[in-house]
Amino acid sequence: MKRIEDVTLLYEISKNLNEHLDLKKSLYKVLDTLSISINMIRGTVTLLNPLTNEITIEVAHGISRTAVERVKYKLGEGITGRVIQTGHAVTISKISEEPHFLNRTEARRGKLDQEISFICVPIKKGSQVIGALSVDHPYDESYSLKNGEKLLSVIATMIARHVINLEIIHLEKEQLREENRRLRSELETKYSFTNIIGSSSRMREVFQMISQVSKSNATVLIRGESGTGKELVASSVHYNSLRAKSPFVKVNCAAFTGAIKQKLGKFEMANKGTIFLDEIGAVGLDVQVRLLRILQEREFERVGGHQTIKVDVRVITATNKNLEMAIDEGTFRGDLYYRLNVFPIYLPPLRERKTDILLLANYFLEKYSKENAKDIRRFSTPAIDMLMNYHWPGNVRELENCIERAVLLCDAGVIHSYHLPPTLQTGTETGTLPAMSLEEAVANLEKEMIIDALKNTRGNVTLAAQLVKTTVRKFAYKSQQYGIDYRNYR
Ligand SMILES: Nc1ncnc2c1ncn2[C@@H]1O[C@H](COP(=O)(O)OP(=O)(O)OP(=O)(O)O)[C@@H](O)[C@H]1O
Ligand SMILES: [Mg+2]
Repeated sequence: MKRIEDVTLLYEISKNLNEHLDLKKSLYKVLDTLSISINMIRGTVTLLNPLTNEITIEVAHGISRTAVERVKYKLGEGITGRVIQTGHAVTISKISEEPHFLNRTEARRGKLDQEISFICVPIKKGSQVIGALSVDHPYDESYSLKNGEKLLSVIATMIARHVINLEIIHLEKEQLREENRRLRSELETKYSFTNIIGSSSRMREVFQMISQVSKSNATVLIRGESGTGKELVASSVHYNSLRAKSPFVKVNCAAFTGAIKQKLGKFEMANKGTIFLDEIGAVGLDVQVRLLRILQEREFERVGGHQTIKVDVRVITATNKNLEMAIDEGTFRGDLYYRLNVFPIYLPPLRERKTDILLLANYFLEKYSKENAKDIRRFSTPAIDMLMNYHWPGNVRELENCIERAVLLCDAGVIHSYHLPPTLQTGTETGTLPAMSLEEAVANLEKEMIIDALKNTRGNVTLAAQLVKTTVRKFAYKSQQYGIDYRNYR
């Protein structure tokens, strides 16, 4: 074979290898190219499984598929097995004269009238043999087997290089995947403040803020309307902090009258932990001065004593009051405000995160069903509509109370609209829903019961009618009246 042809062949093969990330496909291309350019009759690439020490044919050219799947060599067995074991190439001028030749694939059976030369070279990854490349070539006195062997060795090196590249790519992919998994689980733990429910983007921001601030000692000011979960967030900050094992002491500042010194004694109780000053907007100016001093000096006067003691306490405060306005009005000290407002967390009202309503409703449904040993699974569609349309002035607390009440009233597996409090029924609170007439209310209830019965019986009108204790005729008539088609429930 001429030099220039060799170079062209090698160029072709490097192209074949790099065309795919799929090793098998690349190797098939390589064998195709070999068969065309070097008059190869058969070619195989075998790979060693390092765990079982078994050698299997990875790809082959000129050998039946069943033979490819069937043939296995042991290390050291036959020519291929020996090449892989020793790492040295073997060249056989005439296979008819070679006793070690196994002819496992039986490809050469009955064709021995044509004399065949065989070249087998190891595929090496560094000093480690990972497989072999072998070709059958028609015996030809003028063909230099030594040159053929050299050429195949170069190709085997290229294949090995390609295998290494693929392994690196796989490894990088695996590392990326691993990194991905790690980040995701980190996110999950970040966002899983198990008892704070919410998936709205507004709540995600809150979760992120909690995770950002909890590990520090920063003073946190939690703002938000009544019932939005301020106390829940305060405890979450504490229990996700490095102080989690130390005390979390709650002080309700609205009741911060009279025995001020006793209340301040709570700072001592909270030593090394967190003190939560709830409703900070309710404290009078006299207490504000004392709080300011404690916050500045981190020390206070002990009850009954005269000496001052140092405390190591993290301060979290909460309020639903507009502190800025209180400063303008002169009822809240600006200097205290700046001490407290180091890291503000704002909890949005429930009506501004409607996507959380159902999530919370289901969470409370499960909680109170369990508490009351009832098996209530879901809300009826009209009930869901009512929950979604209400503006929840009392926020999550109101929703929680509403669901608890519904669970107590409910004696079936479903919460219906009539289990919900009247404020939601009529919308009088919001003014968004017109007060219903008796006829409308009855129609709504009938409609709901019909739909529910159909859902429960998968659209079987006879069973559905039985379920609501009426006749099929009346049931069908009412359904038609309300535009309900039983076929939609099958
Ligand atoms: N995101 C939430 N997930 C689960 N439960 C919540 C959530 N937000 C609030 N709650 C529940 O709602 C009730 C009210 O929450 P919390 O006491 O924390 O509100 P608050 O903002 O402190 O209200 P207030 O200003 O009236 O004191 C509690 O029972 C709390 O467990
Ligand atoms: Mg509170």
